[in-house]
Amino acid sequence: MKKKIFITVAIDSPAAAGAGTQSKLIAKHYNLFYLDTGKIYRYIGLLRLKNKKSFSFNFIKTKINKLKIHKLNNKNLLSDDVAVSASIIAKQKQVRNIVHQFQQSCAYNPPKKYFGSVLDGRDITSVQLRKAMFKFFITASLETRAKRRFKEYKDLNKEISYLEVLKSIKKRDKLDRTRKYGPLKKTRDSILINTTKLSKKACFKKIKAIMDRKLKN
Ligand code: C5P
Repeated sequence: MKKKIFITVAIDSPAAAGAGTQSKLIAKHYNLFYLDTGKIYRYIGLLRLKNKKSFSFNFIKTKINKLKIHKLNNKNLLSDDVAVSASIIAKQKQVRNIVHQFQQSCAYNPPKKYFGSVLDGRDITSVQLRKAMFKFFITASLETRAKRRFKEYKDLNKEISYLEVLKSIKKRDKLDRTRKYGPLKKTRDSILINTTKLSKKACFKKIKAIMDRKLKN
């Protein structure tokens, strides 16, 4: 009898490059559990903005230990202020260590109905899932990413200009790429997918072809 394989997909990308969209498509197609790891940092980023006095590593630890996945769907996590707050706290090693456990358990012990997991973030290919079966680095030009994020904010009725979005993404890119712990980088064993000129469908077709080729062997 053929042994059932456990599929792990690791994806890294700068903000608004389309990694979330592709991760969801991959998860749906291959029946994998999807974790948007940025949402965990956003969750902590929001805690920081709302609990200025009690905010500490112990406070974060307690909150993450009892974090339920559905809490990551909170619409308040989608604002630009929360995103910036997330990238500020994400620089700290202690915070990254706390988040690490949560990510590992989602990646390797997803609910039984799934055939594996897909995680996207900044340090997934380089730190979290170094031995993942598939590794992708998804990117797009700064302007394309800012336009996409601006449209998402408009759809959510957020008051923010295109220029503010562009500046904020640029700031986060710098913070995420230059920090000491878990910086955003393309690992040598990750496959580069540039979504600047690709539709969502064309991008997924490319990823699916790569995955199917390996899964058939
Ligand atoms: O992916 P998203 O833009 O929602 O992530 C918000 C912030 O969380 C990022 O700018 C980054 O600073 C942080 N993050 C991280 N490591 C991850 C995922 C997100 O440091 N694996």
